Amino acid sequence: MSWVAENEEEKGGGVLSPRRMIGRIVSFSSGAEMEGGTKTPSSDSKEYRLKPEEELRLEVAEGKSDSVKLELAQGMAEIFGTELVCGNSYSFGPGSKLAVFTWHGCTLSIKGTPEMAYVARDTPMIIYLNTHAGVETLRKRAEKAEKRGPVVMLAGPVDVGKSTVTRILLNYATRMGRSPLYVDLDVGQSGFGIPGTIGASLVEQPASPDGEFANKAPLLYHYGSSNMGANPKFFKELCRVMADAVQKRLDASKKVKYSGALINTAGWVKDEGYSCLLFAVTTFNVDLIIVLDQERLYNELVRDVPPSVHVVYQPKSAGVVERSKRTRFASRMSRLRNYFYGNFESTYFPHTFDVKFSDLRIFKIGAPVVPKSCLPIGMTNEDAEMKLVQVAPSKELLNHMLSLSHATVDDEKTISTNIRGFIYVTNVDVERQTVTILSPQPRPLPDGVLLWSDVRFIDAN
Ligand SMILES: Nc1ncnc2c1ncn2[C@@H]1O[C@H](COP(=O)(O)OP(=O)(O)OP(=O)(O)O)[C@@H](O)[C@H]1O
Ligand SMILES: [Mg+2]
Repeated sequence: MSWVAENEEEKGGGVLSPRRMIGRIVSFSSGAEMEGGTKTPSSDSKEYRLKPEEELRLEVAEGKSDSVKLELAQGMAEIFGTELVCGNSYSFGPGSKLAVFTWHGCTLSIKGTPEMAYVARDTPMIIYLNTHAGVETLRKRAEKAEKRGPVVMLAGPVDVGKSTVTRILLNYATRMGRSPLYVDLDVGQSGFGIPGTIGASLVEQPASPDGEFANKAPLLYHYGSSNMGANPKFFKELCRVMADAVQKRLDASKKVKYSGALINTAGWVKDEGYSCLLFAVTTFNVDLIIVLDQERLYNELVRDVPPSVHVVYQPKSAGVVERSKRTRFASRMSRLRNYFYGNFESTYFPHTFDVKFSDLRIFKIGAPVVPKSCLPIGMTNEDAEMKLVQVAPSKELLNHMLSLSHATVDDEKTISTNIRGFIYVTNVDVERQTVTILSPQPRPLPDGVLLWSDVRFIDAN
């Protein structure tokens, strides 16, 4: 799987103050679009006039509600760092939660009925822009010294805006002509992979306003659970493998090397979760940790990370929406649905076909923990956590996601081999000894070991 960039040009420039940075961030809109006049709002639309440094926070109800359409009628505005084009209409489906922020003032027009829409004056955007300016300074220093650029990690408890700030910083970096690596270690609410995986991708252009980066060939590793606590030892092993791959990718091109990497993490920051976070800090050689919202975590990290790692504390935005278990589950289902069927912008048509039990080679990582006395001589339960265990096809497979590995033989390297895609078991026929699967590709299944995931997909299609 290639995740190598094609255009490799280098850029220079001086250190910028945050305020000057506002003007410096490259604008993709044409001047004419930026200056575009206010359109008369139609009767079913509502207009919002935002002053500089205000944001319009929008929430679209979940379930079967209609999408909300947003248009930038005048001025300049951005959604989490992605600049909007004046006159374009942007749709946001059920469950969307976003903020349209403006540095210079703008007029927005909304069609449809959001569950919540209000203008907020108090935002931490200037702090995030400051952070971007600081990271950009580190990139320039790295460029001068021909060294690796900054590796920045976002950390914090759940629902503090870690993924959002990662997205803002990635977007600002690309608008300055950088190509950073985006690493997502959150197996529950993965930014671009599917639940139960960790991933990395090269980011060369801002995300679309709905939040998706153009991930042509992300590097994904199978974890097999959306619960990070399911097998922390295996999680750490995957971090090690991913850190190696990231280092190689940074070394492969100067542009990426100076741009560095941004790492998004999960919100489990206690006990074993904290130990995984610390492990990731050292394995990825993180230079800067941005801790959102939790002073306790900030102080713990200051105490425990090597002195060379800078740890900064930053507030969360009051706009960050807390998500219930149900909402998180719905968002995981929606990621899976998008993987097979696409979204309302681009629809995919997955294939469904039968595969014989005898043609399947399914493995699971981690053997059940058994009493010491039952283990073979010399083996510990710790070894069991990393063991590849064959799964016999049965009714138990129903609705489970399976990762198709690039590994073709089941050796110890399988657990640290990246993933080429995913399938999902829609039916198990024990009598005929077949399973029916949903696959993005037509039959036959490509060669490769299948890895069992505890993530289930409920396909409403
Ligand atoms: N300023 C804002 N206004 C409105 N919504 C926002 C704002 N900032 C973030 N959100 C929304 O709040 C939700 C939670 O934010 P985000 O996913 O970044 O938090 P997180 O800390 O990464 O959560 P998790 O711990 O689940 O990974 C997202 O739906 C995001 O779009
Ligand atoms: Mg997140």
